[in-house]
Amino acid sequence: MESYIRIIKNIDHMQQEARQLLQTGKTIVLVPTMGYLHEGHLALMREGRKQGDALVISIFVNPTQFGPAEDFQAYPRDPDRDVSLAESVGVDIIFTPEAEVMYDKAYQTSVDLEMLPRYLCGPSRPSHFSGVATVVTKLLNIVKPHVAVFGEKDYQQLAIIRRMVHDLNFDVRVIGVPIVRESDGLAMSSRNTYLSEDERRSALSLYKALQRAQKSVAQGIRDAGQLVHSASEVLCSYPNTKIDYVSVCDPGTLENVNRVEGPTLMALAVWVGKTRLIDNTILTIEN
Ligand code: PAF
Repeated sequence: MESYIRIIKNIDHMQQEARQLLQTGKTIVLVPTMGYLHEGHLALMREGRKQGDALVISIFVNPTQFGPAEDFQAYPRDPDRDVSLAESVGVDIIFTPEAEVMYDKAYQTSVDLEMLPRYLCGPSRPSHFSGVATVVTKLLNIVKPHVAVFGEKDYQQLAIIRRMVHDLNFDVRVIGVPIVRESDGLAMSSRNTYLSEDERRSALSLYKALQRAQKSVAQGIRDAGQLVHSASEVLCSYPNTKIDYVSVCDPGTLENVNRVEGPTLMALAVWVGKTRLIDNTILTIEN
């Protein structure tokens, strides 16, 4: 089958392409990714496909969002497979620059938010959200999309991007797409590939802990401390797990709450062996 997908590595070329699309009245949709695509990414792209005329995805393992002891070098990469998967959902352009193209030797600018990065993943990944906000800013300026699509699995990232887009008046609509899960409930992530068979079994603890919390809320438990405690019990009942955080918090500010009074975010980060996994759900009180 002939391929119509275009692969662009150069920033000027991508900007020129974007300008042409805009001049011809096309709606541009961007799905930023770090590649090693899975069903979760494909759900973002399918949503993106519905949102506009030209679907651009970026594939860029962004060095500035990895801490010095994190998995930048080991991060899984499979460019050929990514191209076929992107083709299968109707992507028009893959923008995939090299790191030196995005950050030249004299590079010195970053985008930082005041409050949202302090919570949840922030304390264990101090420079992560600055790297994310900076690269997303660059991608928005390069691809010039009308719509940008992100996954709700990275809840804090999505909250930060929404805030940044609002605060800095980016002319883009941000869309969040619900978490895509494996058949047993594990949230899809490129990092799942690091898990051994035993660890894969333990990775399910995150989903089970969230389910336990949902059930507790349905049974009338409102105390956040109690919900954190019982979710932590579930997490610790699986071998090889180490909790980074279990948080019950305001879905807008990400600040911890004492009680579940309305829609409330439960977010988790857990080490399973050497792999750090995250997951979340909105706890809701049914009437
Ligand atoms: O969610 C991701 O894959 C990355 O954080 C993003 C948004 C592509 C920025 O590098």
